[in-house]
Amino acid sequence: MILIKLGGSVITDKSSFKRFNKERVSKLCREMKDSGKDVMVVHGGGSFGHVLSKEFELQKGHIRDDQTEALAKVSRDMRELNGMVIGELIDAGIPSVSIPTGSCFMTDDNELLIDTTIMKEYLKLGIVPVMFGDVVLDKKKGFGICSGDMIMKCLADAFSPETVVFVSDIDGLYDRDPKTAKDARLITEVNESDLGGISSETTVADVTGGVREKIKTMLSMCSDGRDCILVNGTADGRLLSLLRGKEVVCTKVKKK
Ligand code: IPE
Repeated sequence: MILIKLGGSVITDKSSFKRFNKERVSKLCREMKDSGKDVMVVHGGGSFGHVLSKEFELQKGHIRDDQTEALAKVSRDMRELNGMVIGELIDAGIPSVSIPTGSCFMTDDNELLIDTTIMKEYLKLGIVPVMFGDVVLDKKKGFGICSGDMIMKCLADAFSPETVVFVSDIDGLYDRDPKTAKDARLITEVNESDLGGISSETTVADVTGGVREKIKTMLSMCSDGRDCILVNGTADGRLLSLLRGKEVVCTKVKKK
């Protein structure tokens, strides 16, 4: 099985509040279907999740009274987005059901407490369970934001996928910001021992916390024989080629 995260930057237009990239998601779902691989899908929030969460500082936990209305709205908006993603998966011939993160699970000081029983039962039936970044209740802070990346880490541990794929709107990770540095180089393959050579300040669009942190997160999902790959989902056919085992432009994070 391949665990895939559809990033918010590819399924939504991040510059426009609550704009769904229907055509792009439809194409990506068809590419997943055409690959013939078993997949498990997680998606991010993009402009459905981040705008209000940021404005009302939901990630800081319950610190003000006006946050509860924002929490309810983000929860509603994420379910709206999830419904559209599920719709595209089903239309592409991938039967899938929603497992709304904040309705099913809690976090404890940002650590996701997950029970995979229901997901395993759906998988046995050939149905893909779909989780997504969401507002969640938190045992310590009252509530918080659970990112799709946190979910990916839990699912990689629980389901031992053969490969972990992050679909984003960039070709991969660069050693410098390609928008400002002309000689920025795409990092096509990286492992733990290369990490020292990557500046902690390097940030690129859509990589919060910087490239080094992103590689660390991806490394935490690698195991012997399991790579973690970042691929550009806005390039037609690239995800399909990757899933078919072809060499494509991407960043491959490997344990060794
Ligand atoms: C964010 O999930 C969820 C909310 C803000 C509610 P992610 O952090 O995984 O979303 P993207 O992929 O970066 O947009």
